[in-house]
Amino acid sequence: MTSKKSINVGIIGFGTVGSGTACILIENADIIKRRLGIPVKLKKIADLDIKRDRGVKLGDVQLTNDAKGLITDPDIDIVVELIGGYKPAKEFILDAIKHKKHVVTANKALLAVHGEEIYAAAQKAGVTVGFEASVAGGIPILRSLRDGLAANQIESIYGIVNGTCNYILTLMTNEGRKFDEVLKEAQAKGYAEADPTFDIEGIDSAHKLAILTMLAFGTPVKFEDIYTEGISKITPLDIDFARDLGYKIKLLAITKKARGEVEARVHPTMLPGDFSIATVDGVFNALNVVGNAVGSTMFSGRGAGDMPTGSAVVSDIMDIGRDILSGCAGRMPVAAFREREPLKIRKMEDITSCYYLRFAAMDKPGVLSRISGVLGKNNISIESVIQKGRGAAEAVPLVMMTHEAVERNVRSALAEINTMDCVAGPTMVIRVEEGQK
Ligand code: NDP
Ligand code: HSE
Repeated sequence: MTSKKSINVGIIGFGTVGSGTACILIENADIIKRRLGIPVKLKKIADLDIKRDRGVKLGDVQLTNDAKGLITDPDIDIVVELIGGYKPAKEFILDAIKHKKHVVTANKALLAVHGEEIYAAAQKAGVTVGFEASVAGGIPILRSLRDGLAANQIESIYGIVNGTCNYILTLMTNEGRKFDEVLKEAQAKGYAEADPTFDIEGIDSAHKLAILTMLAFGTPVKFEDIYTEGISKITPLDIDFARDLGYKIKLLAITKKARGEVEARVHPTMLPGDFSIATVDGVFNALNVVGNAVGSTMFSGRGAGDMPTGSAVVSDIMDIGRDILSGCAGRMPVAAFREREPLKIRKMEDITSCYYLRFAAMDKPGVLSRISGVLGKNNISIESVIQKGRGAAEAVPLVMMTHEAVERNVRSALAEINTMDCVAGPTMVIRVEEGQK
């Protein structure tokens, strides 16, 4: 045990998450002290703009423009990086590690791309990097993978890990609202990334999936190997078809281990309406984790926003505080495994799935058999067919649900079908997952 009187913290970045974190450290100071035995003191906050009112009563916390000075302040034990992005966040974190500071960050974009370098530097310096807030906001999913589920071989994770997309899809589904209008709302509420294309094109979910995959399987992950597709092409028509078929469309981050390889992919997915995570709406995130001992588990909660994300940041600060007090900082390897296993990420063409295919088909005799002929030739078996509307002059939506098929075969079939004269445009493809309830 040390004779420390307090755990001292400095935050860089006083935006949405920085404000939530400061607010929790100040307003919940009593419960935090009771849990730790000594206070956690927020000493300094660094931001580019220290004049703007962030709505937090700071008391004697020092506001500064000098992030480097905060990092080198000998009084500070834990540096919390909440500015986001790659530069200068990476330099700040590596500099803090060099100065033997423990680090807490919510920066999934940085960890997904430069995580290995940061974890190695921390390991070498004997300090901890906490990043609970980087995946699924307030849900303690990373801690659960590291600790609570540590006895398991993880079999699969299905995650709704982007609050902005879940918010958009929910309001489009339940209220018939327009995509752009709901995105603006999510931005105003502080859910969206600085660049919202990261949210809607699935990149933010892929960043989080890289972290989940690393912790689930103990493997380093190359971010560029993750297949990524967003929700910007989903139309109200697809949402209606999904509803008629008993499904909901969610942007899913999926990771599974099979035959010595890992699947890691992000794409819009049709899920049975009664599958646990499909019922989770709005800005809420949800993860279905299947372990070989525990079976199917479900986690849900707010995936973005100042206070839920701040809750995760402060939990890391407290965890590190406990390790400092017991003199065992670095007890848990940052990447959760002492022995890691490099695994190959399966090529997207090699995965198997069921598919929803919506063709813009001319409503003429023989069209159905021409399309199904190409699918059959590519070893794709059709489960059901729905056509909406009639009219010889214009294309009508023709939906086919397939049995399980290989992605490569689906791509090859669609490359042929999309050029046929009976089809008026590219086919909409949504993968279908039944999941474990
Ligand atoms: P914000 O943009 O709200 O806040 C970032 C703050 O950092 C701003 O005040 C910004 O100032 C300041 N800043 C930028 N560069 C510097 C610098 N060089 N030195 C000091 N301050 C700087 O972002 P969020 O709080 O939303 O996000 C922070 C991190 O948390 C990101 O990595 C994000 O991905 C992650 N995250 C966010 C969640 C959310 O719900 N918002 C949820 C989970 C994770 P200025 O505005 O003047 O540029
Ligand atoms: N932009 C992210 C989201 C923030 O919408 O989920 C939380 O990581």
